[in-house]
Amino acid sequence: MSNITFTMIKPDAVANGFTGKIIDQILEAGFTIQAMKYVRLSEETAGAFYDIHRERPFFKDLVSFMTSGTIVAAVLVKENAVSDFRTLIGATDPAKAEAGTIRNRFAKSIEANAIHGSDSDANAAHEASFFFSAFERF
Ligand code: CMP
Repeated sequence: MSNITFTMIKPDAVANGFTGKIIDQILEAGFTIQAMKYVRLSEETAGAFYDIHRERPFFKDLVSFMTSGTIVAAVLVKENAVSDFRTLIGATDPAKAEAGTIRNRFAKSIEANAIHGSDSDANAAHEASFFFSAFERF
């Protein structure tokens, strides 16, 4: 079990001014920040990041949404990080996310769902190094 996960605060949440509140909730839940930055994804970068979803019907809309505004990318540290973070953010569809979770509080739809969290330790490692070099991780 690894102790890191990767997250992105998505364009909807950044544009709506929820960044500070979301970071606060993450820190309150016991995560520490190993790396963090503002990023504006290009179509190519978003497509590469979501390559696993390339054949899905929502892929084009997903890339278009994720390139529509600034995001905040971060690597977070905590014991059991991947699983605890997925509990903290709630279900992919905010309508199904438990009360008090980040998506329940800040997300509007399955696409504009405020935040991403890695779904496995292997993906957390891959996604963290996709966005951050070793010099940007502390
Ligand atoms: P995330 O877990 O960050 O990564 C894949 C994203 O695809 C997911 O969040 C959703 O925001 C988005 N998405 C859009 N439509 C769907 C859908 N029908 N099912 C699953 N994910 C979807």
